[in-house]
Amino acid sequence: MHSQPERPHQADWMDGDASRAEADDQPPRMVAPAELTETAEAVLRGMGAPAGIALAVAGSLVDSNLVGHDSHGVRRLPVYARAVELGRIDPAALPEVEGRDGAVVTVRGNRSFGQVAAATAVRALKEAAADHGIGIAAVRECNHIGRLGEYVESLAESGFIGIALCNVDPTVAPFGGRERRLGTNPLAWALPCGSADDPAGDGPVVMDWATSAIAEGKLAMARARGEQAPEGVLMDASGRVSTDPADFYQGGALLPFAGHKGYGLSVMIEAVGGLLSGGGVSCLPGYDGGNGTVLIGVDPARFMPADAFRAQVEDFCEELRRTPPAEGGDEVLVPGDAERRARAERAETGVPVPASVWSALTGLLPDRPDDQSPGGPAADPAARPTR
Ligand SMILES: NC(=O)c1ccc[n+]([C@@H]2O[C@H](COP(=O)([O-])OP(=O)(O)OC[C@H]3O[C@@H](n4cnc5c(N)ncnc54)[C@H](O)[C@@H]3O)[C@@H](O)[C@H]2O)c1
Repeated sequence: MHSQPERPHQADWMDGDASRAEADDQPPRMVAPAELTETAEAVLRGMGAPAGIALAVAGSLVDSNLVGHDSHGVRRLPVYARAVELGRIDPAALPEVEGRDGAVVTVRGNRSFGQVAAATAVRALKEAAADHGIGIAAVRECNHIGRLGEYVESLAESGFIGIALCNVDPTVAPFGGRERRLGTNPLAWALPCGSADDPAGDGPVVMDWATSAIAEGKLAMARARGEQAPEGVLMDASGRVSTDPADFYQGGALLPFAGHKGYGLSVMIEAVGGLLSGGGVSCLPGYDGGNGTVLIGVDPARFMPADAFRAQVEDFCEELRRTPPAEGGDEVLVPGDAERRARAERAETGVPVPASVWSALTGLLPDRPDDQSPGGPAADPAARPTR
């Protein structure tokens, strides 16, 4: 038997007040992206983040809301505030590129916000991939990086095939088991697509999901709304399949997606993300908490003309979308389409923020937002967002 590591794990603070607070009957408040970003920024400034860092983290969270992944949007802020109180996140810390050995980049997060650490890694990775045709970056001391799609999208927008993976605190049972041994271990992968000179084009193909049958954040939202979980995503503490989200929070476990296949993928992500980042395997002693993050960039131009690659990916996507729908279905989408649509729609309508999440956010606003720690974007240039 292994003893549990001492560091407060993300799971201890990930399921914060915001998820419980969502259980209300009021309609969501539609908040314009700019207002949501300003509010998130002010909340982050109130936690002690300098302006550049606050802008980067707020931008990343609101972008998750914009693409429809509210589980990784601004509802995380009360949870981050708790992590700051626990000393898990240093709101003013900046990550640093620790090493560059050919195509291999190592970044030290220094307990900064994970979004800032991952964005730093993406920038260094683009340089490595441009120089060598391929680059790989590992991020140590890395807090929660949010939606992985953001980072691979940024790589693909710069012409690289982007891959991102990370491990996270154990919440998922291995296939056939009934106790938590693996994180929800997400994987994201993006391809440059269409003409590089057409900003109105579809943009990259982006696959991005947890290897658990449901992302923990989405289960927390279902629990908060008093909803049942879908079939086949969780089990209770005795190993019985359940649809009651409470069973997960009372010692149960999530299931990997696609049985042994999702399990196998999660094992690889756990080992590669946990070990290359130095964060450790989440069910073993010495695990450091947070997201053990690894990012990979590949330059397709080293294999074929870049334009031809992008054009063929576009043709491939169009062919997929033209597939006649199966019975009961409407259409075939390509990975990334759902987020693209949500982004276009929410840019117009605003982001639906549950009333109680909004009240939790505004409750975190400092009395005098400008009376915070010094610094602006120029003071911390490393904290630029990826988009
Ligand atoms: N940082 C962390 O610790 C952590 C952990 C887990 C998940 N996450 C993030 O949570 C987010 C949500 O994960 P999830 O597992 O709930 O994702 P999900 O199940 O909603 O799947 C999203 C992916 O599926 C694609 N998709 C959706 N509908 C589709 C369709 N009809 N046809 C084709 N493709 C389709 C989307 O384009 C996207 O690539 C992700 O952004 C992930 O990175 C982060």
